[in-house]
Amino acid sequence: MDHELVVTRRGPRTGLPITVAVHSTARGPAAGGCRLKEYPHWRDGVSDALRLSAAMTGKCAIAGLPLGGGKTVVALPPGHVFDRHELLLDVGDLIEFLGGQYATGPDVGTGPDDMAVIGERTAHVFCRPDASGDSSQHTAVGVIAALRAVCEQRFGSPALDGRRFAILGLGRVGGHVLRLLASENAHLLAADVDESRRALAERHRAAWVSPQQCLSAQVDVLVPAALGGLLTAASVPQLRCAAVAGPANNQLDVPATAQLLHERGILWAPDVVVSAGGLIHATAVELLHETPAQVDARLHAIGDTLGAILTTAAGTGVPPLTVVDQLLADEHGVESPL
Ligand code: PHE
Repeated sequence: MDHELVVTRRGPRTGLPITVAVHSTARGPAAGGCRLKEYPHWRDGVSDALRLSAAMTGKCAIAGLPLGGGKTVVALPPGHVFDRHELLLDVGDLIEFLGGQYATGPDVGTGPDDMAVIGERTAHVFCRPDASGDSSQHTAVGVIAALRAVCEQRFGSPALDGRRFAILGLGRVGGHVLRLLASENAHLLAADVDESRRALAERHRAAWVSPQQCLSAQVDVLVPAALGGLLTAASVPQLRCAAVAGPANNQLDVPATAQLLHERGILWAPDVVVSAGGLIHATAVELLHETPAQVDARLHAIGDTLGAILTTAAGTGVPPLTVVDQLLADEHGVESPL
């Protein structure tokens, strides 16, 4: 067992299965968002919590935050109608029960208003509207810093204008990434399983394509901004991009897929580095009480951290993930959580 603690409880109000996985508190209390999503079986939600919480340990360590990794997953039965407020109270109670070894935040399916409800039951929650609020825009700022580092490494210039990006997923974070890239005059393709996001894409002069077309688009950078598990032995041969970098968590189905990307000459930026902006912002504001300038510097440092990782990887001829694993082992004493 890699995790310190895994709890699954049927919410007393809703009967829904809530899992909190605490991967590590070696660096500090575990942090990680609350994911609210349909799963075929509640056990699939537990598996997701295990992987996502382990990735959070890596994310916090690479970002240099005094936090460990954790995650909450509420596995909704497909098509189930539920009382959101009651469910969030159930989540809040479970987090409170853990007594501060884990603090939650927003993730796929939840946002700042949900954090306020969880906050009715526990103080161990980030990103309430009256605290640091919506983290998705800050995640996107970190993604832009990462994309500059990727372009610098792959194309010799950090400039984003005129570069072609395919954004897969226009949720909270993907939408902000779209907006920021459009303001840099990048050429954009975008896709989402939710057809209602098309208007947003077109407002930013992005060509609307199907998720499959987006995945295999001939672009400079593919930007995964939806759910994880996108990069597999089956999907990697379909890619026609030069690089992949985006905010989706757990983009690889298994770590070995990093090697497949490497062999195809596709530069993949590890998601634990690229996606850290939201967590960094919330922690810097709410826990470290930093000034806006300090917080901003931390977000932009994502580009420097990633740049150093990519340079080392290029110099030694290994996939960037190998460098991240090494960094975690050497500098942070974290044994490859990815
Ligand atoms: N969903 C965020 C992530 O994956 C988690 C998070 C954001 C946690 C903000 C706390 C604060 O990194």
